[in-house]
Amino acid sequence: MDRNLYSRLQTRIILLTLFVSFTPLLLLGVILYRQFAAMYTEKIREQIHFRAESRADAVDLFLSERTAILGTIADTHGFAEMAREETLAQSFAIINARAGAFVDLGVIDQNGNQIAYVGPYDLKGKNYFEQPWFGQVMSRGVHISDVYLGFRRLPHFIIAVRRQEKQRNWVLRATIDPEIFNRIVQVGQVGKTGDAFLVNREGILQTQPRLSGNILEPAPVKPAYFGKQTMTVDGTLLGRPGVLFAGTWLKSTDWLLVVSGDVEEDMAQLFAARTIQTAIIVSGMLAIVLTTVLTTRTLVRQMIQAETRLREMDAQLIQADKLAALGKMAAGVAHEINNPLAVILQKTGWMRDLLAEEDLRRSPNFSEFRDAVLKIEEHVERARKVVHDMLGYARRMEPRTEAIDVNRIIHQTVDILENYARNNNIDIQTDLEPELPPTTGDGAQLQQVILNLVNNAIDAIGQNGEITIRSERADSEIRITVADNGPGIPEHMQRKVFDPFFTTKSAGKGTGLGLWISYNIIEKMGGKMTLQSKAGAGATFTIVLPVIPPGSP
Ligand SMILES: Nc1ncnc2c1ncn2[C@@H]1O[C@H](COP(=O)(O)OP(=O)(O)O)[C@@H](O)[C@H]1O
Ligand SMILES: [Mg+2]
Repeated sequence: MDRNLYSRLQTRIILLTLFVSFTPLLLLGVILYRQFAAMYTEKIREQIHFRAESRADAVDLFLSERTAILGTIADTHGFAEMAREETLAQSFAIINARAGAFVDLGVIDQNGNQIAYVGPYDLKGKNYFEQPWFGQVMSRGVHISDVYLGFRRLPHFIIAVRRQEKQRNWVLRATIDPEIFNRIVQVGQVGKTGDAFLVNREGILQTQPRLSGNILEPAPVKPAYFGKQTMTVDGTLLGRPGVLFAGTWLKSTDWLLVVSGDVEEDMAQLFAARTIQTAIIVSGMLAIVLTTVLTTRTLVRQMIQAETRLREMDAQLIQADKLAALGKMAAGVAHEINNPLAVILQKTGWMRDLLAEEDLRRSPNFSEFRDAVLKIEEHVERARKVVHDMLGYARRMEPRTEAIDVNRIIHQTVDILENYARNNNIDIQTDLEPELPPTTGDGAQLQQVILNLVNNAIDAIGQNGEITIRSERADSEIRITVADNGPGIPEHMQRKVFDPFFTTKSAGKGTGLGLWISYNIIEKMGGKMTLQSKAGAGATFTIVLPVIPPGSP
C-alpha cells in the first residue's frame, strides 16, 4: 500500500479545506472592517463639521449681542451725555450686568481722542486716530477688531460702533474680556485631543489653541485651505496626519473658527471592535484547522483500513478461485487415471495367476518377477488411494440436498474415530448446541469434511491430547469448530494447507487432498471454512454454514 499517496492525499484535503474556509472568513473580516472604518470616519467627519458650525454660531451670537448692546446705548444717548463720566460708568455697569464680558468702555470723538473712559486702565485722553480699527469704524459704522496688544501690551480686541449726530460723528468703543471670549471658543476643545480656536484672514491665532501655537502667532492651519462654507480638511494635507480639521467663517467678523479632532482617539471604539473581530476570526480559524486535521486523519485512516480489508478479501477470493479451478482439473485427471489403473491392476492379477504356474516357478527370475508384480500392485494401490480421494469429491460434484442434522453427523463421526483416538490416548470432546436448527445439504459430504478435520487433528497430535468439536448457532448460521491442542500450523503454511497435494506427511500416509476437498465441499454448501492457528498452540478449523430450512426452494 502506498502510504505516501495517502499522506499526500491527506495534505491536499487539509490544504484545500483550509483554503476554502479561510478565504471567505478573511475576506469577510477585511470587508467588514473596511466598511466599518469608512462609516466611522464619515461619522467623525460629520461630528467635527457639526462642532465647528455650532461653535461658530455661539461665537457669532456672543459678538452680535455685544455689538447690538453697544449700538443701542450709542443710539439712545447723545455724545454730550455719554461724554459725562457718570453716564458712561452707569452704562458700563448696565451692559456688564445684562451681557457681561466688557472690560472697559470709552467715548472717542471724530479726531480719535478718548473723551471719556471707564475701566481698569488709565486710557483717558489717548488718541486712536492712527489705530487701524479707528479708520474702519469711522467708515463702516461697526467694527470688531482683530486681537492686538494695544497700549496695555495685553492681547485683546475691541468692538466699536459709530454714532452720527448732526454736527459730529463719535465712537463708542468697548474692550472684550479676552478670558471670557477664549472660554467660549474653547468649549469646542472636546475629548483628550479636540481643539478649537479662531484665526484671522492672515492666519494669525485670535484665541489660545490647546495643542500647538500661541495667540497672535501664525496658526497651524492656513485659512486659505477652507472655503466659504464649513469644510473639513484631512490633517495629512497640513502635515498633521490622523487629525481632522473643520473651519467655518464667522458671520460677524473676518475670523475663521477651526475645530480639530484626533481621528485615532475617536476610532478607539472601532479599534476595540477590530480586536474582538480578529480574536473571533483567529479562534474560528483555529477551530477549523483542528476539526479539518482531525476529520481528515480519521477519514484517511478509515480509507487505509478499507483498502487493507479489500486486499485481504481479494487474496481470499484469488485463493478460492484457484482452488475451484484446480478442483475441476483434478477431478478430470482422476477420471482419466482411474481407467489405466484398473487395467494395470487387472493385468497384474493375471500376471500373478501366471506366476502360480509350475514352469514359471522354476524360472531363474521367478522371485524377481514376483517382487516386481508386488511393487507394481503396491504403487497402483497408492495411486488408487489418491484417485479415490479425488473422485470421492469429484463424483459428488452434484451434491445431494437433504435435511441435515449437524449434531447427529458430528456424533456419527466421533463414533467412527473414537476407538482409534483412544488407542493414541486422545480425548475427543463435544460441546454441541442442543437447539441447533436443521439445514439443507449433502450430509455424507459434511461428514467427510468433519472426518477429515478430526483425522488431521489426530495425526497432528500423535499421542496424548484433546480434540474439541463444537456446534453453535450464530444468527442465521451454524458454526462448527474442530480444535486440537497439537503442534499447530506455522503462519507461513496456513494458506498452503488448503492447496491440493500439500502435505507434511510421509508418502504413504498423506495425500494432501483432505483439506482441499473439505474446503470445496463447504464452499459448495454456501459456507466458509477458516483456520486459526499458532505454531505450538494447536489449530482450530471453523466451518460456518448458512441455515437453509429443509423444504425451501
Ligand atoms: N490440525 C492440524 N494440526 C496441524 N497441522 C495440520 C492440521 N490439519 C492439517 N494440517 C497440515 O495440513 C496438511 C494438509 O492436510 P490435508 O489436506 O488433510 O492432507 P493430509 O492430511 O493428507 O496431509 C497436513 O499435512 C498437515 O501438515
Ligand atoms: Mg488429511
